[in-house]
Amino acid sequence: MIVEYSPIGVVRSPFSEKEGTPIQPSRADGARGTVEVFPEFAEGLSDLDGFSHIILLCHLHRSSGWRLKVVPFLDTEPRGIFATRAPCRPNPIGLSVVNLLAVDGNVLSIENVDLLDGTPVLDIKPFVGEFDARTEIRTGWLEAARLRRDRADDRFSG
Ligand SMILES: C[S@@+](CC[C@H](N)C(=O)[O-])C[C@H]1O[C@@H](n2cnc3c(N)ncnc32)[C@H](O)[C@@H]1O
Repeated sequence: MIVEYSPIGVVRSPFSEKEGTPIQPSRADGARGTVEVFPEFAEGLSDLDGFSHIILLCHLHRSSGWRLKVVPFLDTEPRGIFATRAPCRPNPIGLSVVNLLAVDGNVLSIENVDLLDGTPVLDIKPFVGEFDARTEIRTGWLEAARLRRDRADDRFSG
C-alpha cells in the first residue's frame, strides 16, 4: 500500500543546511521561524492561538536515504533507527514540538525550530500536557549518553 499525503504548509526557518541546524526544539536556543499554512487550510487554524505549543508533523524532504542502524547525534554507538529521532528513516517524518508565538492569518510564528527552511508540513496539532506529557518515563540508551551536542553535524547528509 502506498500512502500519499499533500503538505498543508511549509516551514520558514533560518536553517538552509542540515549541518548546524538544532538537533531538537529543546536545544534550538530560541531559534524563530514561521509556518506558512496554505490558504485553503487557513480556516483550520481557528482557535489554535490559545495554545502555547504545537506539534509539527513534517516530511523531512532532504533526508538522503534511510538506515536501520544509526549512530545518533547524542551517542557514539549504533542504535536502531526506531529508538532514535534521526532524520534518515524509512518514512522521513519529523515530529517537532515548538512554541507558538502568534497566529496571523495563515502564518504561525514559532520558536525553537529544528527544521530546515522549506520543510513541508503534513499536519499541525496542539500540544496538550494532559495528553502528551508524561512524568514517569524511561529513555533507554539516552540515559547513559554523555554527548552534549546541540547542532547537527554532517553524519546524515551523505
Ligand atoms: C534529529 S532531526 C529531529 C526532527 C524532529 N524534531 C523529530 O524528532 O522528528 C533534526 C535534524 O534533522 C535535520 N533536518 C531538519 N529538517 C530537515 C529536512 N527537511 N530534511 C532533512 N533533514 C532535516 C537537521 O540536521 C536537524 O538538525
